[in-house]
Amino acid sequence: MGKIILGDQLLERSDVLIDLEDRGYQFGDGVYEVIRVYGGKLFTMKEHIDRLFQSAKKIKLDISMSPEQIQDLVESLLKENGVNFGSVYMQVTRGAAPRNHKFPLPASNTKAVFTAYTNEVPRPQSQLENGVEAITAEDIRWLRCDIKSLNLLPNVLAKQEAADSGCFEAILHRNGIVTEGSSSNAYIVKNNEVMTHPADNLILNGITRQVLATLCKDNSIPFVEKEFEVHDLLHADEVFITSTTSEVMPVIKLDGRAVGNGVPGEITRKLQSLFEAKINQETKVEI
Ligand SMILES: Cc1ncc(COP(=O)(O)O)c(C=O)c1O
Repeated sequence: MGKIILGDQLLERSDVLIDLEDRGYQFGDGVYEVIRVYGGKLFTMKEHIDRLFQSAKKIKLDISMSPEQIQDLVESLLKENGVNFGSVYMQVTRGAAPRNHKFPLPASNTKAVFTAYTNEVPRPQSQLENGVEAITAEDIRWLRCDIKSLNLLPNVLAKQEAADSGCFEAILHRNGIVTEGSSSNAYIVKNNEVMTHPADNLILNGITRQVLATLCKDNSIPFVEKEFEVHDLLHADEVFITSTTSEVMPVIKLDGRAVGNGVPGEITRKLQSLFEAKINQETKVEI
């Protein structure tokens, strides 16, 4: 647990008060990020902070802090809490103002509210080794999934549907086209090609996805950003998902049926080891 950040202050969690009329709380009017910590080191921190600013810009939210300031705050929080393997969650809301859908007027002096906290979270070793099961579900989200916004109700419902079926993730589809997971990006492998939905308004362009695209390019593994259908997903040689906390996670069963041979595939294994090497290289931590 440890300390948390509110604005530019490092505080005890029990000392923090969030206004009932904070727009994040009432409207989901804000954006967030999750950064992974390996052996006390932040992985792809700059990329996450950059995306926080991009998301904020897309909803016309002025964070009122610089990326460098946020970086310093997050680093001091991490040091203070002594996190080893875990994550930093950070979010910015449009602040507290009398409830009204419109943005608060500049004259009201409403300020964005930045908060961050840490968690100790082990790597999901056995799932990475053995793979996980997923369901397919309809993508009922809005048309700006490229924004990492606090509005996650459709994602929450899809993840719960997966959990109710004893599964790890729900892979979403819109009009028969596979978009992404409820909290991950989704990929198929067919004839040794990795295929994933293009980074447009229908998915979040995951930081893990971007790292993976570079690793594929550097290792001559075809990485194709192209729409594919549920039928392609169900008949793929391999399926995997990626996210900050799940890394490169093999999917071995979909809607109760085996994917490929029902075990993590060769390309997925290769990508897992390339990704681990990248973590080791960037953090200088042997994971
Ligand atoms: C909807 C969605 N897509 C994709 C991702 C993967 O993004 P990243 O690799 O940056 O964690 C996430 C992560 O939480 C997500 O919520």
